[in-house]
Amino acid sequence: MSNRAQWGTRAGFILAAVGSAIGLGNIWRFPYVAYENGGGAFFLPYLVALFTAGIPILILEFTIGHKYRGSSPLTFARLNKKAEWVGWMQVLISFGIATYYAVIIGWAMSYSIFSFNLKWGDETGGFLMGDYLKVGDVGPAGSFVPGVVIPLIIVWVIVLGILFKGIKKGIEVANKIFIPTLVVLFLIIVIRALTLEGATTGLNAFFKPDWSQLGNASVWTAAYTQIFFSLSICFAIMITYSSYLPRKSDINNNAFITGLSNSGFELLAGIGVFSALGFLAVSTQSEVADVAASGVGLAFAVFPQIINQMPFLNELFGFLFFASLVLAGLSSLVSICETYIAAFQEKFNISRTKAVAIGGGLSALISLIYATEGGVHFLTLVDQYVLVVGVGLAGLFEVIIIAWGLKKVKELQQYNNSLSDIKIGAWWVICLTVITPLLLGYMMVKQLIDDFTAPFIDGYPLSLVIPWGWVPFALTLVGGIVFATLKWKSAEALETNKSEEVSS
Ligand code: PHE
Repeated sequence: MSNRAQWGTRAGFILAAVGSAIGLGNIWRFPYVAYENGGGAFFLPYLVALFTAGIPILILEFTIGHKYRGSSPLTFARLNKKAEWVGWMQVLISFGIATYYAVIIGWAMSYSIFSFNLKWGDETGGFLMGDYLKVGDVGPAGSFVPGVVIPLIIVWVIVLGILFKGIKKGIEVANKIFIPTLVVLFLIIVIRALTLEGATTGLNAFFKPDWSQLGNASVWTAAYTQIFFSLSICFAIMITYSSYLPRKSDINNNAFITGLSNSGFELLAGIGVFSALGFLAVSTQSEVADVAASGVGLAFAVFPQIINQMPFLNELFGFLFFASLVLAGLSSLVSICETYIAAFQEKFNISRTKAVAIGGGLSALISLIYATEGGVHFLTLVDQYVLVVGVGLAGLFEVIIIAWGLKKVKELQQYNNSLSDIKIGAWWVICLTVITPLLLGYMMVKQLIDDFTAPFIDGYPLSLVIPWGWVPFALTLVGGIVFATLKWKSAEALETNKSEEVSS
């Protein structure tokens, strides 16, 4: 399609890809994962995962997105009609993630306002669960929590507003504002954290290598999972974004820049978070191990404590921290939503406006479920099953189908090298055809066995784990297959472009 939307500049594309990659995972997930899995020693498995799976898959996704110029389902369908379902599965996973990712950004928005008067008080954990989220019993949804619904609506207005504007005027412009702002805010936070008393205690805990952990398979799995999540690969995102690249675009350089920027930010976040944790440990006379946490607990219970303890300008520090979470989250959420908007638009031959209204509107409506009194429980379960189980499998299917089923790696390598300054050789081929399928295969078999034998129940009854964990996961798989059997509404979707691709 010659009138396919395009990025205005190369920097615009890179900022959008980096904006997708840098998200909540960098700030609240990476520091703790590294700390828990060997500290300084974790950098070895992390780098191995980055160079054997992260960057190779990123290059693969940029290559197929650019070559076949479609949303993930269309790209897979053009690779081979029988592979279309993988694209849909990834799109549906992204749809599921979007529904709760938006809610967390809403919380961060509330907390950036709460910072001004340290509204969370001294009992930060109790404030989060009780006063703010009004978490009810495990089970029924309960009524809406207005304090969550309102910021959630604001999040959707911003995100859908950006998406309505399209690729160049919407996503590109937003990321050109969000990402530089985020980097500046975050640098201020890290410098402030580094100058707090106790920062070195935190950094020592973070970087102290525990080499014995490297013999542990779960440490390696943690490294690969972190890389997949953090780089936003196998979520249909990078395929969709690269489908808007102009014909003459360097693929490999863009992939290296994206991958390395994301890891750089991750390292920066680790330094900032652990300096702040060291400060908290020293000022409350406890151990770093006792205050370290990840995810919701780190951001919304531990950080407020750190902010409480800070000597001066703590309100401002709090505001900057939560504002960074909001910016990092928004740019990722935009990229998640773009996957299904592009897919619906192409499959059903509807306008972008309609696709944003229907796809975005639907995910916004569904997200309201998590803004209820029981919402956090649903969020936890959907996160575990759709994200951890779903994405690993979607990634596995992607590499196995492309490398083993369709045997496309060599052809894609030639295509890619014809466009890129840095040429990729045997390293890329071996990673995609041998290392990643085997490692990911092993990890997923193990994960599924673990989930079946000792399900992630964590106090959750099966009556909740099944409808909120396994059913959403199954829906991405079954839904993927169903969508793939539906006809493409625009007759030329599969044909015209294919010939264009061949002739170009
Ligand atoms: N990569 C983003 C992060 O690190 C998260 C993300 C995951 C974005 C999945 C989109 C899809 O937080």
